[in-house]
Amino acid sequence: MRLLNVVVCALGLISSHVFAQSSSVDSYISTESPIAKAGIIANIGPIGSKSQGAKAGIVIASPSTTNPNYLFTWTRDSSLVFKALIDQFVSGQDTSLRTLIDQFVSSQAFIQQVSNPSGTVSSGGLGEPKFNVDETAFTGAWGRPQRDGPALRATAIIGYANWLRANGNSSWVTSTLWPVLKLDLDYVAANWNQTGFDLWEEVSSSSFFTTAVQHRALREGSALASAIGQANSNYDTQAANILCFLQSYWNPSGNFVTANTGGGRSGRDANTVLTSIHTFDPAAGCDAVTFQPCSDKALANLKVYVDAFRSIYVVNNGIATNAAVATGRYPEDSYQGGNPWYLATFAVAEQLYDALIVWNTQGSLNVTAISQPFFAQFSSGIAVGTYPSSSTTYATLTTAIKNFADGLAGAMGALLALLI
Ligand SMILES: *[C@@H]1O[C@H](CO)[C@@H](O)[C@H](O)[C@H]1NC(C)=O
Ligand SMILES: *[C@@H]1O[C@H](CO)[C@@H](O)[C@H](O)[C@H]1NC(C)=O
Ligand SMILES: *[C@@H]1O[C@H](CO)[C@@H](O)[C@H](O)[C@H]1NC(C)=O
Repeated sequence: MRLLNVVVCALGLISSHVFAQSSSVDSYISTESPIAKAGIIANIGPIGSKSQGAKAGIVIASPSTTNPNYLFTWTRDSSLVFKALIDQFVSGQDTSLRTLIDQFVSSQAFIQQVSNPSGTVSSGGLGEPKFNVDETAFTGAWGRPQRDGPALRATAIIGYANWLRANGNSSWVTSTLWPVLKLDLDYVAANWNQTGFDLWEEVSSSSFFTTAVQHRALREGSALASAIGQANSNYDTQAANILCFLQSYWNPSGNFVTANTGGGRSGRDANTVLTSIHTFDPAAGCDAVTFQPCSDKALANLKVYVDAFRSIYVVNNGIATNAAVATGRYPEDSYQGGNPWYLATFAVAEQLYDALIVWNTQGSLNVTAISQPFFAQFSSGIAVGTYPSSSTTYATLTTAIKNFADGLAGAMGALLALLI
């Protein structure tokens, strides 16, 4: 029933700066990033200017208290926000964030122990999607549980744990972070094969985004556990089982990823694009088993997803069938009118920038039978094969794909600029 908050949307801008876009997109990002980041910080307690009584380290979804009331804290959204902040901290872009990060960890250690309608800490309560901003349980009706939260929280905190270990502070990892991480990782290992509500909080089934982020968390969690003398082979066993299950979302006849196993929709959903960018690992190359951004399956899926919005939004009228258009959550969406959305459209751009990074690193790109329809948008009739970065075909394709991505970012950026 609810959208991931606007804070997360703005973060897409910060993390998509890594590939050299056209100068107009570059300049937009350098202008917008500090604005977006200040907005994020303003929404975190206790001193954020819009945080309205939130406890320390608590991210509010929005200051809005009516139509709709979003003055709550979601585990998914908070973890995605702090993943981005932790990335900035550990990469040295902003060393001032440490206090906030420590407060986030403390707040989550507390919230994990709060009994709520999903259960207690040991009976399913970690799957509770949202809490009041004073860290008490939200007891109203809701789509619960949502099982991506513990996984995303673990991934965020593991990023910080790895930095602390590399900087001579393993004792803090073992004493303070590991107890929080172990609860979340054990929850994921024990519950991934249960249904729950999807990231849009509407469909109760299994969900691609949830399954994929659970896989990531257990892989990273297992590596950290081994490094600190807490090796747990069940994390590896369950990660392998999850990865196996992840393959079942692929729809070979439709050439796309079906977002949810339930819900009675077409299955085309920003869920799947967000999955590729939130599990992006440049070291994994174009691996299709984990649906990396440049994998044939993720690219085929991207085309089917984008095309689902060409005819349903007025703003997309008259745009060439191979050019960038505005996208939304899923074509059947009716929430708040079911409109295009920055977060979804930027996710498409981000997947393509991620893909360009890896192709440039690898010095080639592959066109397979699965990804051929995606590449054919940019070079009609392109043949299946490997195109080295020295080839004119590689130059043609990557230039067109960068223009397409810039078109998405640019169109949305222009709209966003009108609002602020
Ligand atoms: C380890 O990190 C924690 C969290 O930031 C900090 O409070 C503590 O002082 C650090 N310890 C050392 C020895 O640096
Ligand atoms: C549990 O895992 C099995 C084996 O992958 C799969 O067939 C089944 O759909 C899964 N169920 C849920 C709810 O994840
Ligand atoms: C292209 O395919 C080959 C053979 O499967 C593989 O070794 C290589 O990593 C792929 N390159 C990219 C960029 O996907």
